[in-house]
Amino acid sequence: MTELLIDIIAGARPNFMKIAPIIKALEARRAEGGRLRYRLVHTGQHYDARMSGDFFSQLGIPEPDVNLESGSGTQAEQTAAIMTRYERLLLDQPSRLCLVVGDVTSTMACAIAAKKLTIPVAHVEAGIRSGDITMPEEINRLVTDSITDWFFTTTTVAGDNLRRSGVEPQRIVFVGNTMIDTLLANLDRLRPPSFWDELGLKPGGYFVVTLHRPSNVDSTASFARLLGAIGAGTHGLPVVFPVHPRTAKTLRELPGVPETIRFVDPQPYLEFNHLVRHAKAVVTDSGGITEETTVLGVPCMTLRNSTERPETVTVGTNELIGTDPDALGPAFARLFAGQWKKGAIPEKWDGRTGERIVAALEELLPV
Ligand code: UD1
Repeated sequence: MTELLIDIIAGARPNFMKIAPIIKALEARRAEGGRLRYRLVHTGQHYDARMSGDFFSQLGIPEPDVNLESGSGTQAEQTAAIMTRYERLLLDQPSRLCLVVGDVTSTMACAIAAKKLTIPVAHVEAGIRSGDITMPEEINRLVTDSITDWFFTTTTVAGDNLRRSGVEPQRIVFVGNTMIDTLLANLDRLRPPSFWDELGLKPGGYFVVTLHRPSNVDSTASFARLLGAIGAGTHGLPVVFPVHPRTAKTLRELPGVPETIRFVDPQPYLEFNHLVRHAKAVVTDSGGITEETTVLGVPCMTLRNSTERPETVTVGTNELIGTDPDALGPAFARLFAGQWKKGAIPEKWDGRTGERIVAALEELLPV
């Protein structure tokens, strides 16, 4: 039997929960005699224990086979460092497929490096589009999908986007959502963070906030106004805000913030999702978190004008509030009046996506 080596690329925090179920499914198939082998490549885009290492240990992801240690920098610096280092790896030790997930800089950089060496690319979470080209992630999605060979999609909308842009239907496989595989697999392991009692947190009696998009946190004035509106709208209930490194920079320059907002370090996976699961609501500018709140049935306010994950709004519990702080008051009022929608779970977000991806790869890759 010919073995096939595929690269699995992970670089930044939102990638780790997406690769875990794929690795688990690959290992399960291998134990049954499957022919796919994998090499786990960490680009080093995120490198702190809090942004990276904790996720590997909590989710049981094996140590990366290779760490490209690309580190911080501007978007172009990071892209160049990852491409140069990954290209070198492929030249020395080629693989038969480059599997990338999500929409971070590492996703795009590795896809380009592989494709230029004629190594096929598979993209997990392909085809989602916010339509907002000012977001680095949207550029990463467009570039990656323009050179992808096999598109694994989370929703039918993503498949429609791809077909509309000319992708042949036989190259699109609707598999579901690996991030949700991880959430469902870990539901019973979620646990409160160490500050749970100290902050007086009670199920349904606090809020979770995460903000890190440049449009929300890079300007001191607009970030301060958003925090003011969150403080006012949450009626004295505690607000837990795990602070992303980018946000920490602006936070240091803020004159004052509402005292109910409690800033904490970025949380490991199990603690973060415990906080989300029991929150009265989540306020965020992340995309991935809106998928988790949808599955957990927790109300979610997204402080963005667009989303690449429309099913979290049309099916789930998410609502696009925009970035104007004045829009938050009415949203909190509806929440406190018990008028937030209940939501449902999108098709194939069922915990089996990793298996579907591995089954598809075994069929697609030449013997
Ligand atoms: C990246 C992703 C974004 C994702 C976010 C989640 C891109 C274009 N964006 O944005 O989609 O939602 O991660 O975390 O890839 N830093 C640290 N420690 C780390 C990593 C980063 O201190 O472990 C610092 C960097 O030096 C930089 C800042 O955090 O100053 C931002 O990191 P960067 O990787 O550039 O992008 P993110 O804003 O994290």
